Amino acid sequence: MSSKPKTCKRLMVQKLTTNFRDAVTIETTEMCNPKNGEVCIKNKYVGINATDINMTKGRYFVSGEVPFGVGLEGVGEIVEVGEGVEHLKVGQSVTFLNPRCDTYAEYVCIPALHCFPVPESDPKYLSLLVSGLTATIGLDKAARIMAGESVLITAAAGGAGHIAVQWAKAADCHVIGTCSSDEKEKDLGCDRIINYKKEDLGEVLAKEYPKGVNVIWETIGGKVFDDCLKNLSVKGRLLIIGGISGYKTENKEALIKRDLSSLPEQLLFKSASVIGFLVLEFKECFGSYFKFMSESLQEGKLRIINDDGQKSTGSEFFGMDGIIRAVEHLHSGKSIGKVIASSSFVSFSWKLIFRRFKIL
Ligand SMILES: NC(=O)c1ccc[n+]([C@@H]2O[C@H](COP(=O)([O-])OP(=O)(O)OC[C@H]3O[C@@H](n4cnc5c(N)ncnc54)[C@H](OP(=O)(O)O)[C@@H]3O)[C@@H](O)[C@H]2O)c1
Repeated sequence: MSSKPKTCKRLMVQKLTTNFRDAVTIETTEMCNPKNGEVCIKNKYVGINATDINMTKGRYFVSGEVPFGVGLEGVGEIVEVGEGVEHLKVGQSVTFLNPRCDTYAEYVCIPALHCFPVPESDPKYLSLLVSGLTATIGLDKAARIMAGESVLITAAAGGAGHIAVQWAKAADCHVIGTCSSDEKEKDLGCDRIINYKKEDLGEVLAKEYPKGVNVIWETIGGKVFDDCLKNLSVKGRLLIIGGISGYKTENKEALIKRDLSSLPEQLLFKSASVIGFLVLEFKECFGSYFKFMSESLQEGKLRIINDDGQKSTGSEFFGMDGIIRAVEHLHSGKSIGKVIASSSFVSFSWKLIFRRFKIL
């Protein structure tokens, strides 16, 4: 067993609000000890997700009774192994999905079943979890993409979006992506990029895809959902992945109600479908999809873009306050790729020293 400190820092939700900074406090709590079947991990990086602010509001995955922890995924090193865990050992690097959703901490105790061993604590591996699994399983199992089909990916430069674009391209689909800036358009790999700040999504689709789009990966909601539905092809599949345009809203009832009364006819006459997709309902696929993506990453066939704040905001998202800044950055609409925050002080200081002497 390697030595652990007696306490650790973590973010705790104390107030139910979508304003992440107002919702959480940075607390020092007693160190957790792994129970039967669990391991204790020293987090090196945590993965930021759009839905974090749904969680701080008490909407998703949590009881809504404060205080509670927050954070879905991370990558780090095992510092202690609980009884009954045979296949993992101290010192091993793992990436993990946290069923307790309390990852934003220096240390976490996780059921060993939810850990995926990785060669090193590289944030690219954690990007394959919530984001990668949603992109790949969503397109394969729910949307059932086929070669030659047109596939529209909304928020194509985002954490899940940039992986979805590559997955659909690898399946020989014609890929259309939406994003909001010239910077995000670069190197995305789409056949057609719609910068919705410059072009109207509905107009472009109606003009350039008069027969409609076969598969639509919808993460925005509101008017984007309406434009997508209108431009779905015969036998098209519109996959509801999320609705980020409504996440910051404190009172969902206050959102403008849209008239969906014609939805049954719209789908009937096109033999089309609108499909809800929640990645957590596809756990049986996690192992095989993670393995395939990890191998593709190692072989250079899958490119993961991480946004750690360094390039985009001038300073790295580090420590508990860095996690708060990282969540705000994701919701600023300016992030590119998967947003991550570093939570390991030692590695961070060494990184600064290495950078100073241009070793990294
Ligand atoms: N169903 C599931 O199981 C599942 C799992 C993971 C993620 N998701 C969903 O997938 C979507 C992407 O999540 P992510 O974590 O990968 O985030 P992300 O795409 O890395 O970041 C969000 C991006 O959304 C775009 N966006 C569009 N309208 C926005 C608005 N009103 N406010 C903020 N951003 C806006 C922005 O890019 P541009 O505007 O430049 O395009 C922004 O960069 C979310 O809807 C999330 O809830 C669902």
